[in-house]
Amino acid sequence: MMYKSVRGMEDILPERAGIWRNIEKACRETFQNFGYREIILPVVEQTEVFSRSLGNASDIVNKEMYTFEDKKGRSLTLRPEGTASVVRSVIENNLLKDGSVLKVYYVGPMFRYERPQAGRKRMFYQIGVEFFGSESVLADCDAALCLAQIFSRMKIPFTLKVNTLGCRRCSTKYSEYVTDNLKADGAAMKKLCEDCLRRLSSNVLRVFDCKNTSCQDILRTLIPIGDSVCQSDKDKLRVFKKTLEEYNIPYEEDKSLVRGLDYYTGIVYEAFVKGREKDAVAGGGRYDGLVSSMGGPETPAVGFAIGIDRIMDTIDLINPEGPKEETDVVLVSIGEKSLRENFRLLMGLRMKGIVSQMDYDLRSTRSQFRRANTLKARFVIVRGDEELQKKTVKVKRMSNGQEMDVREEDIYKIIAENQKNTD
Ligand code: HAM
Repeated sequence: MMYKSVRGMEDILPERAGIWRNIEKACRETFQNFGYREIILPVVEQTEVFSRSLGNASDIVNKEMYTFEDKKGRSLTLRPEGTASVVRSVIENNLLKDGSVLKVYYVGPMFRYERPQAGRKRMFYQIGVEFFGSESVLADCDAALCLAQIFSRMKIPFTLKVNTLGCRRCSTKYSEYVTDNLKADGAAMKKLCEDCLRRLSSNVLRVFDCKNTSCQDILRTLIPIGDSVCQSDKDKLRVFKKTLEEYNIPYEEDKSLVRGLDYYTGIVYEAFVKGREKDAVAGGGRYDGLVSSMGGPETPAVGFAIGIDRIMDTIDLINPEGPKEETDVVLVSIGEKSLRENFRLLMGLRMKGIVSQMDYDLRSTRSQFRRANTLKARFVIVRGDEELQKKTVKVKRMSNGQEMDVREEDIYKIIAENQKNTD
């Protein structure tokens, strides 16, 4: 029996895991600069945490959740996203103090039962932020600039699609407008798919998530949501766009962008990598009503999440080799005694944070050097009988082939010097 990973849930093998960690590192460091602190949450929640917040009419809740009963018959769900879990946690743990802000970030696997294809998995990783407690459009700008900073740091060319869904009053009015118009048009009603007919009575805005071309043709005849919002929401979007321009962040306005989740209010956006416009690599926006709808205090909030898997794919696109994983030192041993001495030195180097490797099986000197080349070692340290007798080691600087006989205690100085030169 040959076991295989579950469909849509892929292994990230060692040669790609380094890219994964580099993306995570770039995000974590940027989040910390922007004042976010990490929150670590369970991957399983009560099903209602998601069904109430993401919306019963959303594709995620309707079709894509991994829901199961535990042994006591409780309905549990593998989290399809992070925002609802964060909101559950900050309410449960009373982290939302009156009048103050809270900024948290999270990273981890999410689960959606989608049709697996390039860039679409059933288990994927998100890293995201949630910023609670500010009504100001500057909070929207703060989040979007943080997202943009991550892309520029990783040198990934991107563009944002931005829109506003307006305040709750605006979106309620817009929902009524869409419902009335569709219901009044008998021919359109006949053309709408079953899902959209259901959405008409649960949450009409979700019709805009429909991939069906005949539904899309009908929806194109309606005024887009971005044009229907009140002046105050239009003003906020204007400030948001102006800020993006000030920081040279490429964006385009997409007045029909609604995002696929019910909790958004106000400004929303998605990030796309240039040359790969099919799927967003990140998405987010404002969600002022979610905390109170889940039993917490009235709290304005903004946030976004980045799909790490999709970023990995784009890095492959831009730089097929991915970032280099460096090895400082490879130790070459000649004979049993040298092997023992090198093992002791190897551990000493590692304890000092110097990335070091060696062969434990006394393969030929040639093959040990070959490994050093594969690992792109900056130094090779060789110890044979002669060095053992002299109580020295031979250090070879691989960039220029220079060889030095040095005492062990001087190795650290030479490596440190080299690091300074290459920084
Ligand atoms: P989302 O747009 O559903 O938003 O997901 C965010 C990102 O997760 C997407 O842009 C994409 O990169 C990645 N993603 C989603 N589904 C898949 C999949 N099947 N395979 C691979 N990657 C995927 C949210 O989840 C919101 N919670 C974001 C947010 C945070 N809004 C406010 N705060």
